Amino acid sequence: MPKMMVNIDHVATIREARGTYYPDPVFAAGIAEMAGAAGIIIHLREDRRHIKDRDLKILREVVRTKLNLEMAATIEMVNIARDIKPDMVTLVPEKREELTTEGGLDVVSLSDKLEKIIEKIKGKGIKVSLFIDPKESQIIAAHKVHADMIEIHTGAYSDAKSEKARAGELKKVIRAAVKGKELGLGVNGGHGLHYHNVREIALIPEIDELSIGHAIIARAVFVGLDRAIRDMLALM
Ligand code: PXP
Repeated sequence: MPKMMVNIDHVATIREARGTYYPDPVFAAGIAEMAGAAGIIIHLREDRRHIKDRDLKILREVVRTKLNLEMAATIEMVNIARDIKPDMVTLVPEKREELTTEGGLDVVSLSDKLEKIIEKIKGKGIKVSLFIDPKESQIIAAHKVHADMIEIHTGAYSDAKSEKARAGELKKVIRAAVKGKELGLGVNGGHGLHYHNVREIALIPEIDELSIGHAIIARAVFVGLDRAIRDMLALM
């Protein structure tokens, strides 16, 4: 079974909706760890629309499992990561106008830039993962730029409109996971996973970690965060 990493961005989204100091993502991290999360994920976006620099600093102090910082491949973010030293960084493409991360990184065309950025981050002892679509060319490129891990974008699988389309997308994720392992990369997955689609992905033996956020925080509104996390763990 893959480890469950909980993305707590949307606790901060609720806070920012009213500009209050609650609910605090720092508390969410503690509850998530107590409920069995193997790690905490936050995305420090360039526009700081949910997670703030203050959250990242405090979470670095309090998270005892593993802190995964999702971020754009920019100089500003690289400097923050080198300063704060999360356990790992996941590089993602970022557009201001998007609701959430839309596609995977195009490692093939950005390979020179990414290779330099990855070297800078790894220089501080931080592991680097690249969020990519389940395409062989992107996985090979991720290996060439010396990423430690890949995170396979499961969005197309999650959003598939028919069983047939979903089965096709699942096959792509499986093939990508096998290819990643073959090249010696760590293999994670995530995006759009929820209580009704996680099982097939959790059954892929090559996947080490799953990153799940929105569905867990949404369920927590009704049943509480502890229960929402335990329910997801049980399904996985
Ligand atoms: N992985 C990456 C790279 C993401 O950007 C996100 C969304 O923040 C997730 C996983 C989690 O996606 P979701 O919130 O749909 O579970």
